Amino acid sequence: MTDAEYDAKMRELQQLEQDFPDLARADSPTRHVGGSRDEKFAPVTHEVPLLSLANTFSGDELRDFAARCEKLAEKPLTYVLEPKIDGLTIALTYEGGRLVQAATRGNGVVGENVLENVLTIAGLPHRLKDFAGRLLVRGEVYMPKAAFAELNEQREEQGETTFANPRNAAAGSLRQLDAQVTAGRRLAVWLYDILLLAGAPQPKTHQDALNFLREQGLPVIEETVCGDIDTIVAALEPWQQKRHTLAYDIDGLVLKVDDEQVRQELGSTAKAPRASIAYKFPAEAVETTVLDIQVGVGRTGVLTPLAVLEPVWVAGSVISKATLHNEDNVAEKDIRVGDKVLLHKAGDVIPEVIKALPEKRTGAEQPFVMPHTCPECGSPARREEGQAAWRCLNAHCPARLREGIYHFVSRPAMNIEGLGPQLINQLLAAGKITDAADIFTLTMEDLLPLPRMGQKSAENVLNAIDAARTRPLSSLLAALGIPYVGGKAGQLLAENFPDLAAISHATREDLLAVDAIGEIIADSVVQWFAQPKNRAFLDKLAAGGVKPQPVQKQAGEQPLAGQTFVLTGTLPNLTRAEAKARLEAAGAKVTDSVSKKTSYVVAGEAAGSKLAKAAKLGIPVLDEAAMLALLS
Ligand code: IVH
Repeated sequence: MTDAEYDAKMRELQQLEQDFPDLARADSPTRHVGGSRDEKFAPVTHEVPLLSLANTFSGDELRDFAARCEKLAEKPLTYVLEPKIDGLTIALTYEGGRLVQAATRGNGVVGENVLENVLTIAGLPHRLKDFAGRLLVRGEVYMPKAAFAELNEQREEQGETTFANPRNAAAGSLRQLDAQVTAGRRLAVWLYDILLLAGAPQPKTHQDALNFLREQGLPVIEETVCGDIDTIVAALEPWQQKRHTLAYDIDGLVLKVDDEQVRQELGSTAKAPRASIAYKFPAEAVETTVLDIQVGVGRTGVLTPLAVLEPVWVAGSVISKATLHNEDNVAEKDIRVGDKVLLHKAGDVIPEVIKALPEKRTGAEQPFVMPHTCPECGSPARREEGQAAWRCLNAHCPARLREGIYHFVSRPAMNIEGLGPQLINQLLAAGKITDAADIFTLTMEDLLPLPRMGQKSAENVLNAIDAARTRPLSSLLAALGIPYVGGKAGQLLAENFPDLAAISHATREDLLAVDAIGEIIADSVVQWFAQPKNRAFLDKLAAGGVKPQPVQKQAGEQPLAGQTFVLTGTLPNLTRAEAKARLEAAGAKVTDSVSKKTSYVVAGEAAGSKLAKAAKLGIPVLDEAAMLALLS
């Protein structure tokens, strides 16, 4: 069921238990935090139980909440309003300044230890700045919208099924048995609550607590609103718009009493604290009808169900199709042809059918059955054990060939402008091309007889094809469709080998010697170049005049691009100039004065007014170690 339905049922149950307390059961879900623990990772009993939050859906309900708190506290209160990040709860333990445990929420009492994976999250310091006591802190692991879109693109490229939304992608990434996989997933984390602090003065307010975390170099959300309940309620409406400008998904806001003493006094029910409450945004989903469920065949032979929808306007564009990802997703959501469904844009980009609306069924709806043969060529398809995808087993499937050519000319590959799917279909149908290499033998005479093809368009296409002959080696590698070699691996290979011949002769060991090329990619490259048909294809490209250009090694990644740093005081190991150079090499800007735009202040011994200004503006302060951790 959707969150909204779950919330409504929970409220109904709460009301019933309030009206008929004798009937309330000890095992009622209103008394326990839901969820289940996966056995894959070592169980961790939470030192402080990870409670849940009660939900509200309107400004009036938030006012009721504030009135209750203020009545119990017997004074007017200040509140902090924070974004409610749509990710997964994480509980971190720092001991002696070091991150020693990271646990998922599980059922709130027992979760699982995912430390190894959490250690790969960029921007989460493994060491605190200067606090050496014990700190238990709660936060949310999430996948930024851009990382989600990129991951799905990559998975599609590699013939894997895609994730429905950033939350699922984050969950799948955090639970990887291989931490290296997690490391490649660009997860991020926001921390928002101190569960326990031993060895430092207790923060007097929630804002103090957040500042303490910031001062220790931890990632804490900046977009908070503080004030009385009127200020808070006035901020709800602007947030509905602002949520779309954030780099990550939020599904609401969280209102928290600022005064720590009052928070303590208010305590909690078995399920949720009394001093905090969630405000859920109204669902942005729209209703539409599933006209058909088609099955597409990708370049790697993966069969993907696709919902053809009655066109509807969703968050800025008209949507008429939505991928249903795989057989299991359709079955879990029981989406049928003819169903009314709820649709939204996951991560603000990708159309996702959230759920079917079975109460609106007429009886004429048709359940979906995944075909066990390829819808394009009729060959048998197979679903490997442990995989979500069905694959067409015919290596010569026309759909695979066609999709492979679409991919070859696409922007991240050979980028041949003007040679789109429609023209490729026409060329295939007319027998002018039989594979992507034939593109380089096309002539004016081949193009001109095609429907709607004038002299000028034909010239443009031929010019675009000619320009593609000298694309960088990285682009050609991405275009070839070698399993697991997309843009990133293509770039790495091109940077580390002089030309295609060198890559085609490289051994597994040669390939593994390249940093960040692992066994899966190395094996895949060796196997691909060992196949005679692939070598013949490369010969055909060369005969067509394709001469990929060598690629220079690029300066490393720029993990701090867009961030502004200010250095102050004397650092223990690095000179100011060295620190500046390192930050700039990572893409950061280093300026002299602290302003609201400053991302971090790096402070050493005898730091002066800049440090004070950072504290005043609530800008995170790092020491040298925390800065180096960000750079690593
Ligand atoms: S405070 C006792 N603050 O929302 C609960 N939670 O629906 C303290 N969440 O499980 C939670 N952003 O994982 C809090 N800024 C935020 C949050 C947040 C997301 C999650 C949290 C919780 C869920 C409750």
